[in-house]
Amino acid sequence: MTVNEYCLFILLSEKLSDKLTPPPKDIIDIPNLSIVLPDKPKRENKILFSDKKSKIPRLEHLNQKTNRALAIHHFANHELMALEIFAWALLKFQNIDPLFRRDLFKTLKEEQKHLSLYINRIHELGMEFGDKPLNFIFWKFTPLMITFDNFSSIMSLSLEGANLDFATLYSKIFEINGDTESARIMDLIYKDELSHVKRGVRVLQKNKNPEESDWEHYSQNLVFPFTPRRAKGYFYFPETRKKVGFSDEFIQNLAEYKDEFSNRKKEVIPEELKSWGIYSD
Ligand SMILES: [Fe+2]
Ligand SMILES: [Fe+2]
Repeated sequence: MTVNEYCLFILLSEKLSDKLTPPPKDIIDIPNLSIVLPDKPKRENKILFSDKKSKIPRLEHLNQKTNRALAIHHFANHELMALEIFAWALLKFQNIDPLFRRDLFKTLKEEQKHLSLYINRIHELGMEFGDKPLNFIFWKFTPLMITFDNFSSIMSLSLEGANLDFATLYSKIFEINGDTESARIMDLIYKDELSHVKRGVRVLQKNKNPEESDWEHYSQNLVFPFTPRRAKGYFYFPETRKKVGFSDEFIQNLAEYKDEFSNRKKEVIPEELKSWGIYSD
Protein backbone atom coordinates (compact mmCIF):
# COMPACT_ATOMS: atom_id res chain seq x y z
CA MET A 1 0.00 0.00 0.00
CA THR A 2 1.18 3.54 -0.71
CA VAL A 3 0.73 6.59 1.50
CA ASN A 4 -1.59 8.06 -1.13
CA GLU A 5 -3.77 4.95 -1.16
CA TYR A 6 -3.97 4.99 2.62
CA CYS A 7 -4.91 8.70 2.70
CA LEU A 8 -7.64 8.13 0.11
CA PHE A 9 -8.93 5.27 2.26
CA ILE A 10 -9.14 7.61 5.27
CA LEU A 11 -11.02 10.27 3.33
CA LEU A 12 -13.33 8.04 1.31
CA SER A 13 -14.19 5.58 4.05
CA GLU A 14 -17.29 6.64 5.97
CA LYS A 15 -16.57 4.63 9.07
CA LEU A 16 -14.88 6.10 12.11
CA SER A 17 -13.19 2.75 12.78
CA ASP A 18 -11.57 2.86 9.30
CA LYS A 19 -10.31 6.38 9.89
CA LEU A 20 -8.62 5.09 13.05
CA THR A 21 -7.08 2.02 11.42
CA PRO A 22 -3.28 2.31 11.57
CA PRO A 23 -1.36 2.10 8.29
CA PRO A 24 0.45 -1.15 7.38
CA LYS A 25 4.05 -1.31 8.61
CA ASP A 26 5.44 -1.75 5.08
CA ILE A 27 3.64 1.26 3.59
CA ILE A 28 5.69 3.15 0.97
CA ASP A 29 5.47 6.71 -0.28
CA ILE A 30 5.28 7.06 -4.04
CA PRO A 31 4.21 10.60 -4.96
CA ASN A 32 1.81 10.78 -7.89
CA LEU A 33 0.97 14.10 -9.48
CA SER A 34 -2.24 12.97 -11.14
CA ILE A 35 -4.13 12.24 -7.96
CA VAL A 36 -7.80 13.31 -7.73
CA LEU A 37 -8.33 15.10 -4.46
CA PRO A 38 -11.66 14.75 -2.63
CA ASP A 39 -13.07 18.11 -1.41
CA LYS A 40 -14.57 16.69 1.76
CA PRO A 41 -14.23 13.44 3.71
CA LYS A 42 -16.99 10.86 3.72
CA ARG A 43 -18.60 10.32 7.13
CA GLU A 44 -21.06 7.74 8.48
CA ASN A 45 -24.27 9.03 10.15
CA LYS A 46 -22.92 9.16 13.68
CA ILE A 47 -20.10 11.51 12.69
CA LEU A 48 -21.73 13.60 9.94
CA PHE A 49 -20.86 17.29 9.72
CA SER A 50 -23.43 19.51 11.40
CA ASP A 51 -24.29 23.21 11.10
CA LYS A 52 -25.57 23.23 14.66
CA LYS A 53 -23.49 25.21 17.10
CA SER A 54 -22.02 23.31 20.00
CA LYS A 55 -20.25 25.45 22.56
CA ILE A 56 -17.50 24.24 24.81
CA PRO A 57 -18.65 24.46 28.46
CA ARG A 58 -17.31 27.31 30.54
CA LEU A 59 -14.32 26.56 32.76
CA GLU A 60 -16.24 27.03 35.99
CA HIS A 61 -18.70 24.32 34.89
CA LEU A 62 -16.04 21.65 34.41
CA ASN A 63 -16.52 20.40 37.95
CA GLN A 64 -19.34 18.32 36.38
CA LYS A 65 -18.47 15.08 34.64
CA THR A 66 -20.93 15.67 31.75
CA ASN A 67 -19.35 19.02 31.01
CA ARG A 68 -15.88 17.51 31.00
CA ALA A 69 -17.13 14.89 28.52
CA LEU A 70 -18.56 17.73 26.40
CA ALA A 71 -15.28 19.65 26.45
CA ILE A 72 -13.36 16.53 25.39
CA HIS A 73 -15.99 15.85 22.70
CA HIS A 74 -15.23 19.29 21.34
CA PHE A 75 -11.48 18.55 21.23
CA ALA A 76 -12.09 15.10 19.72
CA ASN A 77 -13.91 16.73 16.81
CA HIS A 78 -10.79 18.79 16.15
CA GLU A 79 -8.63 15.66 16.15
CA LEU A 80 -10.90 13.90 13.66
CA MET A 81 -10.76 16.89 11.32
CA ALA A 82 -7.00 17.14 11.83
CA LEU A 83 -6.34 13.52 10.89
CA GLU A 84 -8.50 13.84 7.78
CA ILE A 85 -6.86 17.12 6.80
CA PHE A 86 -3.38 15.64 7.14
CA ALA A 87 -4.53 12.85 4.80
CA TRP A 88 -5.91 15.54 2.46
CA ALA A 89 -2.58 17.45 2.62
CA LEU A 90 -0.58 14.32 1.79
CA LEU A 91 -2.77 13.92 -1.29
CA LYS A 92 -2.62 17.59 -2.25
CA PHE A 93 1.10 18.26 -1.79
CA GLN A 94 2.80 15.55 -3.84
CA ASN A 95 5.98 17.34 -4.80
CA ILE A 96 7.21 18.74 -1.48
CA ASP A 97 10.45 17.62 0.20
CA PRO A 98 10.05 13.89 1.05
CA LEU A 99 11.06 14.72 4.63
CA PHE A 100 8.06 17.03 4.91
CA ARG A 101 5.79 14.27 3.58
CA ARG A 102 7.26 11.97 6.23
CA ASP A 103 6.46 14.61 8.88
CA LEU A 104 2.86 14.94 7.64
CA PHE A 105 2.40 11.20 7.76
CA LYS A 106 3.81 10.97 11.27
CA THR A 107 1.46 13.74 12.38
CA LEU A 108 -1.53 11.98 10.82
CA LYS A 109 -0.78 8.85 12.90
CA GLU A 110 -0.46 10.91 16.07
CA GLU A 111 -3.79 12.63 15.39
CA GLN A 112 -5.35 9.15 15.18
CA LYS A 113 -3.84 8.39 18.58
CA HIS A 114 -5.24 11.63 20.04
CA LEU A 115 -8.70 10.91 18.69
CA SER A 116 -8.64 7.39 20.18
CA LEU A 117 -7.55 8.70 23.58
CA TYR A 118 -10.39 11.23 23.57
CA ILE A 119 -13.01 8.74 22.32
CA ASN A 120 -12.15 6.35 25.16
CA ARG A 121 -12.24 9.10 27.72
CA ILE A 122 -15.59 10.45 26.48
CA HIS A 123 -16.94 6.91 26.85
CA GLU A 124 -15.56 6.59 30.39
CA LEU A 125 -17.25 9.88 31.26
CA GLY A 126 -20.61 8.53 30.10
CA MET A 127 -20.99 9.88 26.57
CA GLU A 128 -20.16 8.64 23.06
CA PHE A 129 -18.26 10.48 20.35
CA GLY A 130 -20.88 11.74 17.88
CA ASP A 131 -23.58 12.20 20.54
CA LYS A 132 -23.15 15.94 20.05
CA PRO A 133 -23.04 17.88 16.75
CA LEU A 134 -19.68 17.91 14.96
CA ASN A 135 -18.88 21.17 13.23
CA PHE A 136 -16.56 21.33 10.22
CA ILE A 137 -14.65 24.48 11.05
CA PHE A 138 -11.21 23.21 9.90
CA TRP A 139 -12.66 22.01 6.58
CA LYS A 140 -13.86 25.55 5.91
CA PHE A 141 -10.19 26.52 5.71
CA THR A 142 -8.98 23.92 3.18
CA PRO A 143 -9.83 26.17 0.18
CA LEU A 144 -7.36 28.66 1.71
CA MET A 145 -4.57 26.06 1.77
CA ILE A 146 -3.48 26.53 -1.82
CA THR A 147 0.27 26.10 -1.30
CA PHE A 148 2.16 23.99 1.22
CA ASP A 149 3.21 27.20 3.00
CA ASN A 150 -0.47 28.21 3.27
CA PHE A 151 -1.21 24.79 4.73
CA SER A 152 1.66 24.94 7.24
CA SER A 153 0.78 28.46 8.34
CA ILE A 154 -2.91 27.68 8.81
CA MET A 155 -2.81 24.14 10.11
CA SER A 156 0.50 23.70 11.93
CA LEU A 157 1.45 27.18 13.05
CA SER A 158 -2.08 28.43 13.80
CA LEU A 159 -4.57 25.66 14.62
CA GLU A 160 -2.07 23.27 16.18
CA GLY A 161 -0.35 26.26 17.80
CA ALA A 162 -3.63 27.24 19.47
CA ASN A 163 -3.96 23.69 20.72
CA LEU A 164 -0.84 24.27 22.85
CA ASP A 165 -2.85 26.88 24.77
CA PHE A 166 -5.97 24.70 25.04
CA ALA A 167 -4.05 21.60 26.15
CA THR A 168 -2.14 23.60 28.79
CA LEU A 169 -5.26 25.25 30.14
CA TYR A 170 -7.59 22.25 30.17
CA SER A 171 -4.99 19.93 31.68
CA LYS A 172 -4.79 22.28 34.63
CA ILE A 173 -8.56 22.73 34.88
CA PHE A 174 -9.21 18.98 34.79
CA GLU A 175 -6.57 18.49 37.47
CA ILE A 176 -8.11 21.22 39.66
CA ASN A 177 -11.43 19.38 39.34
CA GLY A 178 -9.85 16.09 40.44
CA ASP A 179 -10.00 14.48 36.97
CA THR A 180 -6.39 13.36 36.79
CA GLU A 181 -7.03 10.91 33.92
CA SER A 182 -8.38 13.64 31.61
CA ALA A 183 -5.48 15.88 32.71
CA ARG A 184 -3.00 13.10 31.83
CA ILE A 185 -4.49 12.80 28.33
CA MET A 186 -4.23 16.55 27.78
CA ASP A 187 -0.55 16.40 28.81
CA LEU A 188 0.18 13.56 26.36
CA ILE A 189 -1.49 15.46 23.56
CA TYR A 190 0.32 18.65 24.51
CA LYS A 191 3.69 16.86 24.14
CA ASP A 192 2.82 15.53 20.67
CA GLU A 193 1.41 18.88 19.66
CA LEU A 194 4.73 20.54 20.50
CA SER A 195 6.38 18.33 17.87
CA HIS A 196 3.60 19.04 15.36
CA VAL A 197 4.07 22.78 15.69
CA LYS A 198 7.86 22.31 15.48
CA ARG A 199 7.29 20.56 12.14
CA GLY A 200 5.44 23.67 10.97
CA VAL A 201 8.28 25.89 12.19
CA ARG A 202 10.75 23.78 10.14
CA VAL A 203 8.70 24.39 6.99
CA LEU A 204 8.45 28.10 7.75
CA GLN A 205 12.17 28.47 8.33
CA LYS A 206 13.18 26.43 5.29
CA ASN A 207 10.80 28.16 2.87
CA LYS A 208 10.98 31.81 3.91
CA ASN A 209 13.43 34.07 2.15
CA PRO A 210 16.34 35.30 4.28
CA GLU A 211 15.13 38.91 4.41
CA GLU A 212 11.72 37.94 5.75
CA SER A 213 11.03 37.54 9.44
CA ASP A 214 9.17 34.44 10.63
CA TRP A 215 6.12 36.61 11.33
CA GLU A 216 6.19 38.21 7.86
CA HIS A 217 6.39 34.87 6.08
CA TYR A 218 3.70 33.40 8.32
CA SER A 219 1.23 36.27 7.99
CA GLN A 220 1.76 36.53 4.23
CA ASN A 221 0.77 32.90 3.95
CA LEU A 222 -2.53 33.34 5.75
CA VAL A 223 -5.36 33.80 3.31
CA PHE A 224 -8.27 36.08 4.30
CA PRO A 225 -10.59 35.52 6.20
CA PHE A 226 -8.14 33.41 8.21
CA THR A 227 -6.20 35.62 10.64
CA PRO A 228 -3.54 35.04 13.36
CA ARG A 229 -6.34 35.28 15.92
CA ARG A 230 -6.87 31.57 15.31
CA ALA A 231 -3.26 30.84 16.25
CA LYS A 232 -3.92 31.27 19.96
CA GLY A 233 -6.42 30.18 22.54
CA TYR A 234 -8.60 32.66 24.42
CA PHE A 235 -5.85 32.45 27.01
CA TYR A 236 -2.40 32.54 25.39
CA PHE A 237 0.72 30.94 26.90
CA PRO A 238 3.76 32.54 25.21
CA GLU A 239 6.19 30.10 26.87
CA THR A 240 4.73 27.21 24.85
CA ARG A 241 5.64 29.04 21.61
CA LYS A 242 9.21 29.57 22.85
CA LYS A 243 9.48 25.80 23.26
CA VAL A 244 8.67 25.17 19.60
CA GLY A 245 11.19 27.70 18.32
CA PHE A 246 9.15 30.75 17.35
CA SER A 247 11.15 33.98 17.35
CA ASP A 248 10.56 36.53 20.12
CA GLU A 249 9.10 38.87 17.49
CA PHE A 250 6.61 36.19 16.42
CA ILE A 251 5.58 35.50 20.02
CA GLN A 252 5.11 39.18 20.74
CA ASN A 253 3.17 39.90 17.54
CA LEU A 254 0.88 36.99 18.24
CA ALA A 255 0.31 38.24 21.81
CA GLU A 256 -0.69 41.66 20.51
CA TYR A 257 -2.79 40.46 17.58
CA LYS A 258 -6.49 41.31 17.76
CA ASP A 259 -9.32 41.38 15.26
CA GLU A 260 -12.99 42.21 15.48
CA PHE A 261 -13.89 38.72 16.68
CA SER A 262 -15.31 37.73 20.01
CA ASN A 263 -17.82 39.01 22.42
CA ARG A 264 -17.34 35.91 24.52
CA LYS A 265 -17.63 36.51 28.22
CA LYS A 266 -14.15 36.17 29.68
CA GLU A 267 -13.41 32.79 31.23
CA VAL A 268 -12.32 32.77 34.86
CA ILE A 269 -8.72 31.56 34.65
CA PRO A 270 -7.37 29.85 37.80
CA GLU A 271 -4.99 32.06 39.79
CA GLU A 272 -2.01 29.72 39.38
CA LEU A 273 -2.19 30.06 35.58
CA LYS A 274 -2.75 33.80 35.37
CA SER A 275 0.89 34.80 35.64
CA TRP A 276 1.90 32.47 32.76
CA GLY A 277 -0.52 33.69 30.15
CA ILE A 278 -2.43 36.55 28.56
CA TYR A 279 -6.12 36.98 27.72
CA SER A 280 -6.53 37.09 23.96
CA ASP A 281 -10.02 38.50 23.62
FE1 LIG B 1 -3.84 16.36 17.83
FE1 LIG C 1 -1.54 18.04 15.88
